[in-house]
Amino acid sequence: MQKQNELESRERILVTGGCGFIGTNYIHKQLIHSFRSVINLDKCTYAANPQNLAGCTDVERYTLVQGDICDRELLDYLLQTHRPSAIIHFAAESHVDRSITGPKAFVDTNILGTFQLLQAARDYWSKLTAPGREDFRFLHVSTDEVFGSLGQDERGFHEKTPYSPNSPYSASKAASDHMVRAYQQTYGLPTLTTNCSNNHGPFQFPEKLIPLVIRRAINGESLPIYGDGMNIRDWLFVGDHCSAIDSVLANGVPGETYNIGGNSERTNRQVVQTLCTLLDELAPTTSGRSYSEQITFVKDRPGHDRRYAVDASKILRELGWQPSCTFEQGMRRTVNWYLQNNAWLESIASGDYLNWIASNYEQRCSQ
Ligand code: NAD
Ligand code: TYD
Repeated sequence: MQKQNELESRERILVTGGCGFIGTNYIHKQLIHSFRSVINLDKCTYAANPQNLAGCTDVERYTLVQGDICDRELLDYLLQTHRPSAIIHFAAESHVDRSITGPKAFVDTNILGTFQLLQAARDYWSKLTAPGREDFRFLHVSTDEVFGSLGQDERGFHEKTPYSPNSPYSASKAASDHMVRAYQQTYGLPTLTTNCSNNHGPFQFPEKLIPLVIRRAINGESLPIYGDGMNIRDWLFVGDHCSAIDSVLANGVPGETYNIGGNSERTNRQVVQTLCTLLDELAPTTSGRSYSEQITFVKDRPGHDRRYAVDASKILRELGWQPSCTFEQGMRRTVNWYLQNNAWLESIASGDYLNWIASNYEQRCSQ
């Protein structure tokens, strides 16, 4: 244990997109449960909240740099100055609905930004000497959405499932996955790619289904379910995603990809009903009515993928990782966190957030 701590205390990692939902949870984990130093490069888009990590700013092991992964000069400077032993690449435009109304930002960051980061990483890594060169890792955080949509009885996505992305978001992530693969195959860059299912947990931007429903429920607003609500997603508590990333970083084989999932397929109706039942118990309405009375069905998302499911047997078999909590346990933790951090939820409700909500749901409800 002593030796492990000493090793970690010499380790510096460059995290991109660390002010977003999963990056925030990942950095908290590093600062609390490891001795690693973290350099967080984040453009601070609408989806970022540097306040998430406010408590870490006086931690010597944490440095926040506001900047763009498309800025090659900045990337070179950061790699030369901090000399990290790994890059954990979370930075992305990540909201499917926004990718439908404004796909360009997704191409810029997810494709071109990942390309710039790969170029800079390759240049930096190629000049490293042993043992740093052998130990260096580029871990690319991706999504199960690159595999497209499954039929009702099809096996869950596995690492050899052909890519078939349907939204500008998933297409841009698929393109970035291919570039990462190409840099390993062509230049030998020691890359690792993870493809994870839908996350839930603390610090998620409230445009996404789960925090959106919690916030609207407690504010007495309608709970909008797209289409017939029978679309299926696999859900994973964000802390479990972070522990899977650490397993892949420590023991994953360069060039390999690992699917990560929660073994928790649920229809959107089931997810919203679970949230309403938990809220009825933990924060009952003053009228005594169930939050489920606020559910409304609205116009569907164009090209809405019907079903995602993940076969996460490879990461269990090869790295011994599996989720630590069930869907119900994770959702209870998530709901409790938002109820205890209502001020955080409301502070996110910025001008940009309110404009997005107004335009997105105005159009959906006018059907
Ligand atoms: P998020 O939208 O909450 O955060 C993204 C972060 O990236 C933000 O802080 C943003 O400011 C930053 N960013 C955006 N463009 C940037 C740029 N050009 N340069 C530097 N920083 C930039 O996203 P998230 O939900 O935390 O997702 C993180 C990663 O995990 C993404 O790559 C996403 O595709 C992947 N992923 C997410 C989920 C999920 O359920 N949220 C599931 C599987 C995979
Ligand atoms: P989301 O959180 O946007 O994640 P993703 O599209 O990446 O899976 O949406 C999760 C599911 O919830 C998806 O099937 C779309 C649906 N959804 C709604 O029904 N209502 C909403 O208001 C939102 C934001 C999503």
